[in-house]
Amino acid sequence: MIDIHHHLIYGVDDGSPDLETSLAMAREAASEGVTHIVCTPHASDAHPYRTSVNWERMNEIQAALGDSIHLLLACDFHLNAENILDAIENPLRYSIDGKGYLLVEFSDLAIPPQLDSALGRLRAAGYTCILTHPERNPVIVRNLERMAEWMRSGCLVQVTGSSLYGRFGRTAETFSNHLLDRNWIHFLATDAHNLTSRPPHLRKAYDYVANRCGTETADRLCTHNPLAAITGLKLPPQPEPIGLDSSGPIHFSDGFKPAAPGKQTPRKTGSLFGKLFSR
Ligand SMILES: [Fe+2]
Repeated sequence: MIDIHHHLIYGVDDGSPDLETSLAMAREAASEGVTHIVCTPHASDAHPYRTSVNWERMNEIQAALGDSIHLLLACDFHLNAENILDAIENPLRYSIDGKGYLLVEFSDLAIPPQLDSALGRLRAAGYTCILTHPERNPVIVRNLERMAEWMRSGCLVQVTGSSLYGRFGRTAETFSNHLLDRNWIHFLATDAHNLTSRPPHLRKAYDYVANRCGTETADRLCTHNPLAAITGLKLPPQPEPIGLDSSGPIHFSDGFKPAAPGKQTPRKTGSLFGKLFSR
């Protein structure tokens, strides 16, 4: 298995606090059958992305681990104007091993309409955007049509494995299982932050999917698609996402109807974001 979302690098965000914890997290992942970890420090207002520090510490961790597991660098990329501009100016800088797949996290407060064109600009700069844990984002959960539109335009989807069995609450559990049953998920990852509350446990998610959907699906989400992402290749053939091309409103269940039009709060047109990404 390959874990493409993991806050393994110590001291750079709210993930591992020290080298000892990083080594323990990596060894625990390896003991479950994880062969590669993609290290994804945040790039956000709270946690600026420091490329040289990330490389230095990842290499330090790798040296201590030897060949037991392989580390690659990427980013938990928060969609804000500064990040997007920097990513466009530095093609492939934040992507997984610089090969094009970019883990994108949306704000859970509001997703302004300009973000649609921002995603288009990232695509034009060479990135394949992977929407991270939509099941944990209340704005996306209420706006299924919006998520479907991003997917139709090429966005892939990564779900946090433990959401499937309830570690992030009932809503995330229900929504992620709807996504799973409709082939709307391309990757499962741990989004591990530590050894206790956010542990690096991918095996339990693999087993959950294998039991629910079969080992072929579990292998696709935990190994085959992640392998394509770390090597920069196209994903292997995927099953058709059910309902994605529906001409009417998409409903997973009564609890997940799209929000009424105009419910989101767009940013002011005079904001930096508006200037950069308004059509
Ligand atoms: Fe993360």
